[in-house]
Amino acid sequence: MPQETYYKDHWVEIEPDRLDRYEAQFAWGARGNRLIDGADIRVGHVVADYGCGPGFLSVELARRVGPGGQVQAFDVNADFVARTESKLAAEGFAPRSAVTHLQGDMLPLEDNSLDRLIIKNVMCYVDDPLASLREFRRVVKPGGKVHAIDSDFYMAAFDPISPLDWRHVLDAAIHAFRTPEIGRRLYGLALAAGYGEVAVEVIAGPDTTGRMFNFIQNMAGYAREGGNHDEAIVQRVLVQSKRAVEDGTFFAVNPQFLVTATV
Ligand SMILES: C[S@@+](CC[C@H](N)C(=O)[O-])C[C@H]1O[C@@H](n2cnc3c(N)ncnc32)[C@H](O)[C@@H]1O
Repeated sequence: MPQETYYKDHWVEIEPDRLDRYEAQFAWGARGNRLIDGADIRVGHVVADYGCGPGFLSVELARRVGPGGQVQAFDVNADFVARTESKLAAEGFAPRSAVTHLQGDMLPLEDNSLDRLIIKNVMCYVDDPLASLREFRRVVKPGGKVHAIDSDFYMAAFDPISPLDWRHVLDAAIHAFRTPEIGRRLYGLALAAGYGEVAVEVIAGPDTTGRMFNFIQNMAGYAREGGNHDEAIVQRVLVQSKRAVEDGTFFAVNPQFLVTATV
């Protein structure tokens, strides 16, 4: 059995091939812009990127805030901290950014110090999502916004993988998430955390290029590490999806829940 804190530990230590998959999976594009436009990031803003991963979002945020703004990126993984720093530096954004290796769920920031906090595909991993949303409310100024984006893993769908096979892999990999159904819960949690205004949107863009195959491979890895899986099913899911990516018939949808909460 994996450790009870596997959902966090598997981010602190990441195998090299999974690190490389994230570079492909989170590369920035039009889809990323649609996910963050609701955060209304403006020139001069001070913005946090919580759980920055490989750093593509931090670079986009640094572009949007301009030379008079600031991006503060945070992650629990040392490789991601280094990758984010080097991407920001390569774009010439080092003077307007800082990347911090986070040790816990509290932010080393003063009260009311940010205009925006963006957390993209990280809320499903934090120890206590309500406590995190309260912590974000502490560091964002009155009138500022917290913009959370996340999946609800029970709602992801794939073709040609059978729903029952996918559910088997998800159940066997569930220790990799603290709150796998976080998408549907974000709205209620933001209300419970005491924000003044909470807007919610769901974007369900199709993936026909195979970007989600990276995610399927990660899920197969988590299931295998857990050991509560049927290897024949995991193999079938991997083989069918790989073949579909190769012959151009792969289809996936993983709805993204966008919650914009105003302090
Ligand atoms: C799925 S990746 C998303 C990366 C990035 N936000 C993006 O969308 O490109 C999840 C990220 O959250 C980080 N993470 C996981 N648990 C965290 C926590 N409790 N606090 C901060 N970061 C965390 C991981 O190290 C990883 O970089």
